Amino acid sequence: MKEKIKEIHSKALSDISNVKVLDELTNIRNIYLSKKSELMSFMSKMKELSQEERISFGQLINSVKEDIASRIDERRKALEEEKLKEQLDKEVVDFTLPGRDYSKGSKHPFNTIVDQVSEIFIGMGYQIAEGPEVETDEFNFELLNVPKGHPARDMQDSFFIDESLLMRSQTSPVQARVMLSKNGVGPIKIISPGKVYRRDDDATHSHQFGQIEGLVIDKNINMGNLLSTLELFAKAMFGEKREVRMRSSYFPFTEPSVEADISCFECGGKGCSLCKGTGWIEILGAGMVHPNVLRMCGFDENEYQGFAFGIGIERVAMLKYGIDDIRKFYANDKRFNKQFNKE
Ligand code: PHE
Repeated sequence: MKEKIKEIHSKALSDISNVKVLDELTNIRNIYLSKKSELMSFMSKMKELSQEERISFGQLINSVKEDIASRIDERRKALEEEKLKEQLDKEVVDFTLPGRDYSKGSKHPFNTIVDQVSEIFIGMGYQIAEGPEVETDEFNFELLNVPKGHPARDMQDSFFIDESLLMRSQTSPVQARVMLSKNGVGPIKIISPGKVYRRDDDATHSHQFGQIEGLVIDKNINMGNLLSTLELFAKAMFGEKREVRMRSSYFPFTEPSVEADISCFECGGKGCSLCKGTGWIEILGAGMVHPNVLRMCGFDENEYQGFAFGIGIERVAMLKYGIDDIRKFYANDKRFNKQFNKE
């Protein structure tokens, strides 16, 4: 039996050293070391031996078993190293390949304008107030002096979620929200930038666009304050030489209402294609807060007055940067944004 075991031992060692692929080692382990292997079958024959023989025989089988197991491990390590080396040799890095494009995006002109306008008004002591884009009919219309059935609603058809809830058609509801939060005690000096929604779609109107609302409420506020505020804004935004003129207009929540124009920054007022030969560019709607709005929003209209204005964000950007189609703002094109970040 000892001879046979020695034979198995040397056969195993030569098999192990001949293995070329890792998977084959598992096979070899099964052949020589599993319970059903020839080597292990000798164990069951041990009971036929004397006590002394059994000890030396047991030791022999164990040492052969351990030796085979450790040779298998050694071979496995060697084969693994070989495999890794082969892989590394194969993986050649080609430094001439072109790199991946990680080009950076840039600030959207919409946000550039919001930041510039905000900075100008913060400099005049205004605070930023925000309101929800999904707004109630009450805030979007009724508290702004536009009751149900009022014809002015036609100018601002929007997306209704149900009869009393809509995508706000203007940022003016923020006026009502801020006034109500003050419980009739002024002063208020806020601007409110944000998105608004309307049923419009052509080159200069989109179903979604941005506005910046302005609201000042205090005692002794008059049209002169509104005009000088707009003049300061126009000069800071479009250049020192800008002048502002007001034309009478109509908004339900202001009385009197005006549309404000700035003198054309392209031709300086002489008349060109940008100002359509008039020398003036329409820039925003404004007016003195209507007494009904003051009252409905908790202010005593005999004690307080105020002015409000609404600026179209894309309109300002289009004028300032010469953009001809409002839809370009929403095309998500990095090349479009880049043109306005040349600092
Ligand atoms: N909310 C008006 C509009 O969207 C603009 C406006 C704001 C007019 C504030 C007057 C005062 O047309």
